[in-house]
Amino acid sequence: MSLVVDGLSKHYSKSVHALDNISFRVNAGECIGIVGESGSGKSTLARVLLGLESYKDGRITINGKPIAPKKRALLREYRKSVQMIFQDATSTLNPKLPIWKSILEPLDNFKEITPSFLQAEGLSRKEVAEELLEIVGLEKKMVDRYPGELSGGQKQRVSIARALSIEPTLLVCDEPTASLDVTVQVQILRLLKALQKKTNMTILFISHDIRAVTFLCEKVIVLKNGSIVDQFGLEGIYHEERHPYTKSLIKAASIE
Ligand SMILES: Nc1ncnc2c1ncn2[C@@H]1O[C@H](COP(=O)(O)OP(=O)(O)OP(=O)(O)O)[C@@H](O)[C@H]1O
Ligand SMILES: [Mg+2]
Repeated sequence: MSLVVDGLSKHYSKSVHALDNISFRVNAGECIGIVGESGSGKSTLARVLLGLESYKDGRITINGKPIAPKKRALLREYRKSVQMIFQDATSTLNPKLPIWKSILEPLDNFKEITPSFLQAEGLSRKEVAEELLEIVGLEKKMVDRYPGELSGGQKQRVSIARALSIEPTLLVCDEPTASLDVTVQVQILRLLKALQKKTNMTILFISHDIRAVTFLCEKVIVLKNGSIVDQFGLEGIYHEERHPYTKSLIKAASIE
């Protein structure tokens, strides 16, 4: 899977240029981090990539096919291969449903998909959810719980399980650990890293926290006011040529 973003702009109004002429490329199995301060356009980029929001200028293609195509059938095809994890798992899980039902939503939407972890046939729907819970390090017996009976970190694991269920080729994570405390953040980042190694999916990881980005990603893009001000491989993070804004982020995170 390759993701190519070329000259992408998204203007909400004359004065709000959320994205301004953005270009980057992610190869299959890579993890790319998007870092930038509040309001820099990170979530806008995520929503556009998910096909949740339109874009006018520029081009986004996955495996050579455009995102947010005009035809519904193509959009559906696209949505099968891209999943998203949001900052706040609480708002994405229906509080009235036991978690096994929430986990199965994507598979219910795309009945034609049989993920590889379901090679064993004859599993009940609940058992499928249990398999998925195990993949993200939760106990099977949790399937009957409701979101209100889980911790923040457990809820985020559930939303990761749900996103992984249809084996996306691209996983977009928008501040997935921002609402969690530090030790749980690290656990979730480790989990994402391990899952990526196993599945070879491409991850676009959005965060205002450059430490989280450098832990998970081998490539980093720095966004500021809707523009990419810096773009580098992890090995180049301390190079002199880094943009002053990148340097200030590194300094503020005290990872110098
Ligand atoms: N639906 C919208 N209508 C108008 N302007 C919007 C809309 N959504 C976002 N914006 C504006 O676009 C810019 C980028 O917003 P965005 O949410 O992408 O930032 P962000 O980098 O995700 O910030 P944060 O770190 O706070 O989540 C901001 O100036 C914001 O006010
Ligand atoms: Mg955001």
